[in-house]
Amino acid sequence: MIEHPKARVAVLISGGGTNLQAILDKEQAGELPHAEIALVVSSSEKAYGLVRAEKAGVEAVTIRGKDFEERLIALLEEREIDLIVLAGFLKILSADFVRRYPKRILNVHPSLIPSFCGDGFYGLHVHEAALEYGVKVTGATVHFVNEVTDGGEIIAQKAVAVEEGDTPEVLQQRVMKEAEHILLPQAVEDVARDIVERRA
Ligand code: GRF
Repeated sequence: MIEHPKARVAVLISGGGTNLQAILDKEQAGELPHAEIALVVSSSEKAYGLVRAEKAGVEAVTIRGKDFEERLIALLEEREIDLIVLAGFLKILSADFVRRYPKRILNVHPSLIPSFCGDGFYGLHVHEAALEYGVKVTGATVHFVNEVTDGGEIIAQKAVAVEEGDTPEVLQQRVMKEAEHILLPQAVEDVARDIVERRA
């Protein structure tokens, strides 16, 4: 195994990939000195995030089907991936998979955990629940992934105001732009730096 000066990062997506784009843009801007986005894996071949990866010259593959995890593990090992980032990734990974990568899987969730999280809270459903409850502040959370959905150690959070008349779609866009797209690249760099420095 050759030593990489940076942490090799795989980003897992299922859809639009705006969080992936935020990470790619920061890498391009030289703001992720300890991270190299080496691989994008999608659970759907229709994910626009695959186009974003290809435009950035990053290897992009789709893995589907019941042996998804076995094939994913084989690819992660082959590409010597150090850090896995779930960015709009909609499959729930098994406890066995997650236990293989303690504190090596990050997830971005579009609320201030422990609010509006856990099974069934993903995508627009999160913002529908926040508006339904009538919270005045919401936001996003980046956390390590453990076997409890949205239950791992919190790494970073950022609050976003709920405005009068917000629809779930409008709120989702604001949370993505003002929180997710800022928090996730920074968390990738922070964890990547820890990984690289711990190797030293
Ligand atoms: C969005 O709901 C976002 O809040 C959440 O995943 C969904 C898609 O994100 N993190 P992306 O545009 O595919 O990164």
